[in-house]
Parts: sequence; structure tokens; C-alpha cells
Amino acid sequence: MDRKWTLAAAAVAALFVSPLQAQDNPAKADDGMPAALTQDELNKIDQGPDTIDVSQYPKEQQANYELFAAKCSRCHTLARPINAPFALPQEWKAYVTKMSHKPRSGIDEDSAKKIIDFLTYDSSVRKKDLIEAKLKAQKPAQAAPAKADQSAAKSGSDAPAKAQ
Ligand code: HEC
Repeated sequence: MDRKWTLAAAAVAALFVSPLQAQDNPAKADDGMPAALTQDELNKIDQGPDTIDVSQYPKEQQANYELFAAKCSRCHTLARPINAPFALPQEWKAYVTKMSHKPRSGIDEDSAKKIIDFLTYDSSVRKKDLIEAKLKAQKPAQAAPAKADQSAAKSGSDAPAKAQ
């Protein structure tokens, strides 16, 4: 919202981006990437809880959580992904991919897959309301009696809670 913080966030981001990557337009959001958070928002998010009680989660997701906790707490607190306003599978895919491409992230493709799987499952448990709100906002056409010629176009967003 305010230019100062946007610039500060961009400066922080630039520290982690290689000179080559930095020549791309960093403000451009691809892949359904949600808008970047302001430094203010990041500060708030970072002060939230930094663990998830996964005792009721399936065994596989408990193992994925360990991986997530180890890999995603190296550069910032784990509270950041835990409290971030992201919930849809495509949002997690975009973010984990972005994070894994940061220099020395230590996140390979296999780990990224498992972490995306975990965050998607976790969102289906902890962020149900957010998912519903996001899906509603994504499909304004449904409210109006639209012609049924583009029905299956975005099938990926119809099954947010499915862990693979
Ligand atoms: C190599 C360092 C590094 C690792 C490892 C890392 N992050 Fe980040 N993360 C950053 C930086 C730097 C930012 C600040 C914004 C930016 O530069 O994109 C950030 C920001 C974020 C944000 C806030 C979104 C935003 O717009 O700023 C989320 C959510 C996030 N990371 C999730 C994750 C997840 C999930 C993982 C594990 C898969 C992870 N991070 C691993 C460096 C890292």
C-alpha cells in the first residue's frame, strides 16, 4: 500500500536474487502468483504461531511437515508460511517453486513436491474458510447465468482439499 515498504521489500528480495535473475522484471507476477506481501504484512505474519499441531494429520503428512519445518525455516521463521494468506494448491505451488529457486534454498524437486502436498493438505484443514472465499472470488461468473461454454476450463481449482 505504501511505496516505502514496497521498495524496502524489493531491496530485501534483491539480496537473495542473483544478478541474472534480477534483470527480469521482479514486479511481474506469473503462474497465478498472488501479489507479494508488504513488509508490514510480513512482520505481522512472522509474529504468529511458528508450529502446527499435526498430531491428527495422516502419517505421510506428519513426515512432510518435518521436511517443511526443516526446509522452510532457513531464511525466515516458519511462522511466515504458516500464517501467510495462501491456501489454494496453485498458490502453494507457485510459492514453494519460487522459494526453491532462491540461491542456496536447499529445496530439490522431490522436497518441493512433498512440501506443496503438505501445505495444500494443511490449508484444507486450517484454512477452509479462506479457500472458500478465494474460490468464490475466483468465479464471479457463477453468480450470473453465464453460457456453459467454459465449464471445465479451470478444473484444477475445483479440488483444493485433495491430497495426492
Ligand atoms: C533461501 C532462502 C529462503 C528459503 C529456503 C525459503 N524462503 Fe520463503 N522467503 C524468502 C525471502 C527472501 C522472502 C521475502 C520475499 C521474497 O524475497 O520473495 C520470503 C518470503 C516468503 C513468504 C511470504 C510471501 C511474500 O510475498 O513475501 C512465504 C509465504 C514464504 N517465503 C514461504 C516459504 C516456504 C513455504 C518455504 C519452503 C518451501 C520457504 N519460504 C523457504 C527466502 C526463503
